[in-house]
Amino acid sequence: MKLKHILNSQQFTQPLIRELFLRVNEMEQIVKRGGTRDYDRKIMASLFFGSSSLTRFSFEAAMSRLGGKVLTMENASAFFSVSPEDALEDTIRVVDDFCDVIALRHNEIGGASRAADVCSVPLINAGDGKGGQHPTQALLDLYTIHKETNKLDGLKVALVGNLADGRTVRSLSYLLSKYERVKLYFVSPESLQMKQDILDHLEEHKTWYTVESDLHKVLPEVDVVYTTQIERERFTGNDLEFNNLKKNYFIDKEAVKLMHKKAIILSPLPRFNEISRDIDNDPRAAYFRQTQNGMILRMALLAWVLE
Ligand code: CP
Repeated sequence: MKLKHILNSQQFTQPLIRELFLRVNEMEQIVKRGGTRDYDRKIMASLFFGSSSLTRFSFEAAMSRLGGKVLTMENASAFFSVSPEDALEDTIRVVDDFCDVIALRHNEIGGASRAADVCSVPLINAGDGKGGQHPTQALLDLYTIHKETNKLDGLKVALVGNLADGRTVRSLSYLLSKYERVKLYFVSPESLQMKQDILDHLEEHKTWYTVESDLHKVLPEVDVVYTTQIERERFTGNDLEFNNLKKNYFIDKEAVKLMHKKAIILSPLPRFNEISRDIDNDPRAAYFRQTQNGMILRMALLAWVLE
């Protein structure tokens, strides 16, 4: 199957996901051998209009392990000294002549689609806007869930934290809705709950979900706990209320005791105050394995769009 732009999770059908996972398995073998030089004539531009500590490094490590070259820009809005509205299209029109693939992070929802409309080389959405999408993160999350639990149909997944703005949890919800008998538990304070468009999508696809605020009630029920940070600036209450709120959604040793022995904890990372370091050595803490899977999965995606 051909793959050009990677813009959202909806575009990934089950057959595409199965093919991707096979490609990731091949890449795992290549990484064990130290990588490949097969893509040494290919150039990836990583254009990041918004901040990133992990995704940009993950894409750049992936391209390097494929033997390719990387052009990188962390503050891409400074590429042209024109108004911010024009910066995206103009930047893409120039940069696509310099490279074979673009990994783009943009501050606006739909930024990746706008960019793809004027882009002559494959464009990969590396996160667009708060409440937009982050499809490669969701694919690496799905891959990790499958690798760790050996299932996708019948999964019970708690998505925890700031769900209203979270592009990772939005993209992952779209992917999980493609599988049978999945149950999604959206766990957050009311003001940060999952937006209606995702709930509507789940209803259309007959995916079971529940909206909850009590994490400790949900933990014994699920196979996967996917936790995201709740930012101080998103919460309108005072500091005392915020600290109480953080405690309610904090994954620590006490919280982990409530989970199944084989359940796993995932996070898009970086973490701030949602996961205790005390649980890092618990086998259920899968978040560092998840980031390693992410680099390999991005190798598979880059190699695929470069074919
Ligand atoms: N996981 C993730 O998207 O992290 P960054 O925002 O640091 O890239």
